[in-house]
Amino acid sequence: MRTITINGQPHSIDLPDDAPLLWAVRDHLGLTGTKFGCGMALCGACTMHLDGQPIRSCVTPISAADGKKITTIEGLSADKTGQALQAAWEEFGVPQCGYCQAGQLMSATALLHSNPHPTEADIDGAMSGNICRCGTYTRIRAAIQHVAKSGAAGAKPGAKPGAGKAAAKRSAQ
Ligand code: FES
Ligand code: FES
Repeated sequence: MRTITINGQPHSIDLPDDAPLLWAVRDHLGLTGTKFGCGMALCGACTMHLDGQPIRSCVTPISAADGKKITTIEGLSADKTGQALQAAWEEFGVPQCGYCQAGQLMSATALLHSNPHPTEADIDGAMSGNICRCGTYTRIRAAIQHVAKSGAAGAKPGAKPGAGKAAAKRSAQ
């Protein structure tokens, strides 16, 4: 039995060290906003934050989460940058089928935390590992640029929850 911290909440979970973090979060904790795509770190659908860094949870063993803080799409509503991005996602009509969008938002949030004023090349570089079969890349880039220009980018977690719930709910479907 181990305890892992997801979105600020400790969870006890009994899985082998090499069990993928994605399985723990989706199948054992019921947080289904994060999606399974390729299972090989190639598509980005399973992106979460591990101590603020975007990781591919399909290939990250649960043992890597010991003592670390995990954030999933369900926790993004507690993050001011995440809130701003989710609002921009709606404003720019980014999602199509929606399957990739949780991962896209997690990568975009990590980008703006580390680089609040990214160039177009910075955005393309940071988002290049997140595949969208619906081809929403142009709107993703525009939404990120919008948030960066708004001044909301780079803010630390801890803002009021709520604004991101709609996107998280859609992603969980
Ligand atoms: S499901 Fe993890 S990168 Fe594709
Ligand atoms: S919105 Fe359909 S895969 Fe990205």
